[in-house]
Amino acid sequence: MYTQAKPESKNGNFVGTAESAFLFVCPTPFCANLTRMPLTPQALAALRQDYSQRGLDLSDMAPDPLVQFQQWLAEAHAQQLIEPNAMTLATVDSTGQPWTRTVLLKICDARGFAFFTNYNGTKGAHLAGESRAAITFWWSALERQVNITGRVTKASRAESEAYFSSRPIASQLGAWASPQSSTIPDRSTLEEAFIQAKERFANAPIPCPEHWGGYRLEPETVEFWQGRRSRLHDRLRYVKGADGGWSITRLAP
Ligand SMILES: Cc1cc2nc3c(=O)[nH]c(=O)nc-3n(C[C@H](O)[C@H](O)[C@H](O)COP(=O)(O)O)c2cc1C
Repeated sequence: MYTQAKPESKNGNFVGTAESAFLFVCPTPFCANLTRMPLTPQALAALRQDYSQRGLDLSDMAPDPLVQFQQWLAEAHAQQLIEPNAMTLATVDSTGQPWTRTVLLKICDARGFAFFTNYNGTKGAHLAGESRAAITFWWSALERQVNITGRVTKASRAESEAYFSSRPIASQLGAWASPQSSTIPDRSTLEEAFIQAKERFANAPIPCPEHWGGYRLEPETVEFWQGRRSRLHDRLRYVKGADGGWSITRLAP
């Protein structure tokens, strides 16, 4: 429980400025050990990490950014990170407002970066109107970021069905149950829809819903970012030329 405190409080619990002063009031003795103080503005501003693991040279880079990406993804995977294939996907709505959310990279090959979702959801509506999108990966344990821009197209039906059938049954049922991005009255509505889907398909194979499938971002730029000391990070950006070949330039951090 947090209560507003007077800035002049001298009890040792005061944190923050006059505008954002909060006092943590623990309601039970038990939670005394679990106290989580709000981060003060000063503490937030002081959060910083100096990156020092390694550098990035042009001579280190594969000519094809997808090959280079696969190397970095494999290294992130080898670190046993949780979901190294999680990526932030940015899409743009009809007013030009960008939106982001996390999705999982499920196919990465010479064609690009594919993820699976509900075509009727918000990102699906955005991509139907504007196919340009962007993706960011951040692997903190490796002090690495990858930023990708490009155009998104739907995966083939066969590819979507093949991936859908490889998913756990509960995830398949979830795809039928969830009207992704729609407002729903309460959680029980969703759970009821899941039970109905379960009853509907009983023990039969669950087909891939028409409104569910893959999207693939075909990259036009791919930037590899490696954290370095003193914020002098390395940034190497691949840009696809009109002939389909890639050029690489170094950017200031
Ligand atoms: C780690 C993580 C992975 C996710 N993976 C997916 C995914 O692969 N596909 C998907 O549709 N949603 C995924 N989500 C949920 C999305 O972030 C998002 O809530 C959902 O797709 C609805 O987005 P939209 O309303 O912008 O369409 C994931 C969320 C997290 C946190």
